[in-house]
Amino acid sequence: MSSRIPGFYKLSVAERRQRISHATGIPLDALSALDAVALSQEAADGMIENVIGEYALPFAVALNFVIDGHARLVPMAVEEASVVAAASNAAKMASGTGGFTTEATAPIMVGQVQLLDIANVDAARDAILAQKADLLAWARTIVPRLVERGGGPVDLTVRELSRPPMPDGGMLVVHWHIDCRDAMGANLVNTLCERTADRLAGLAKATVGLRILSNYSDERTVTVRCRIADAALANDDVPDGAVVRRAVASASRFAELDPYRATTHNKGIMNGIDAVLLATGQDWRAVEAGAHAFASRSGAYRPLAVWRDTGTELHGELTMPMAVGAVGGALLVHPGARMALSLSGLTTATELATVAAAAGLATNLAALRALATEGIQRGHMSLHARAVARAAGATGAMVETIASALAASGEVKLERARLLMSDLKPPMEPT
Ligand code: MEV
Repeated sequence: MSSRIPGFYKLSVAERRQRISHATGIPLDALSALDAVALSQEAADGMIENVIGEYALPFAVALNFVIDGHARLVPMAVEEASVVAAASNAAKMASGTGGFTTEATAPIMVGQVQLLDIANVDAARDAILAQKADLLAWARTIVPRLVERGGGPVDLTVRELSRPPMPDGGMLVVHWHIDCRDAMGANLVNTLCERTADRLAGLAKATVGLRILSNYSDERTVTVRCRIADAALANDDVPDGAVVRRAVASASRFAELDPYRATTHNKGIMNGIDAVLLATGQDWRAVEAGAHAFASRSGAYRPLAVWRDTGTELHGELTMPMAVGAVGGALLVHPGARMALSLSGLTTATELATVAAAAGLATNLAALRALATEGIQRGHMSLHARAVARAAGATGAMVETIASALAASGEVKLERARLLMSDLKPPMEPT
């Protein structure tokens, strides 16, 4: 399968579905899982409380992605114009030099059991660690199906947070390190924390506090890299790719030196990542929380991705936690989320993590390249112009005509679009 479909953006939704069906082998009628109505009211009612409807977002595929040698259609659900185009454009730039390569750690999540009111913190820690092997063996019996799938608790560590006479008294936190395989793992981890807390508190002569996973999943990370040739970086504004290469590397340094810029830089990364996470039914808030904690791990808020000018090429690298699942969660009930995984041929959580991360590196590159050359507004404006043209009543080929005229006028406003529309309408015949 190729992830390159020339002229895709110019097709109608129905034609795009045909092309996707053809490219993936997924029957055309199965793609109706992407219709908002495919999530039945009954399923929605079972997902959250107090349901009174369903909320739709556009669902798209970003093109041109090659990840670890596999062409992948990248599913995205997002309200912001230009994210999908940006990801596809950057993926095309990377594809000429092998696309994206990735590495991922084992899918290890951390569960926390807080232990309070400990008189002797050292003795409490020793008592727990002395039983570590036993505790781990016992913990594995609590999640037998996960163990059958090759995962389960792999380590137990104890961290001291406070000791008497500090105002918080004696406080330890036990970390369960759990290989969650293809699950995101929140339920598994929380269950394990709750089921083991009393025994841990007994050993530590402590009171049980909180029992919950940590969203700072710094043991479940993904790294994605790409190389971009100068020829791919050049554009009409800056025809010399070497100039763009230097400008993108300098933009990266800006983010490395300044947390105000790093925040926006990381927002551009999360544009791609969140869109993939939403499309595939993931807990994107969990990934967001982990991403920003990870970005601050040195004590300063830093960019998640950096770009380097090697003198001949631009090299990009992104590392961040990525707690996602290819089973369970919303995937159990959401047909669109399941279809999103099928579209990109994703079967494991690790594959999904690499695709989301590649999307993030791609939207980051597209943003930096635009910012370092023409500025971000021109691209945004031409997409915004299409939305305004539609809002003024344009349909079909008329959308492009009105949008181009709006963009050329520099006045992308509804009133202007309506005027252009009325100019284009044939005058009424006298009766
Ligand atoms: C807009 O959604 C994202 C950007 O602000 C990212 C960036 O500045 O790098 C363009």
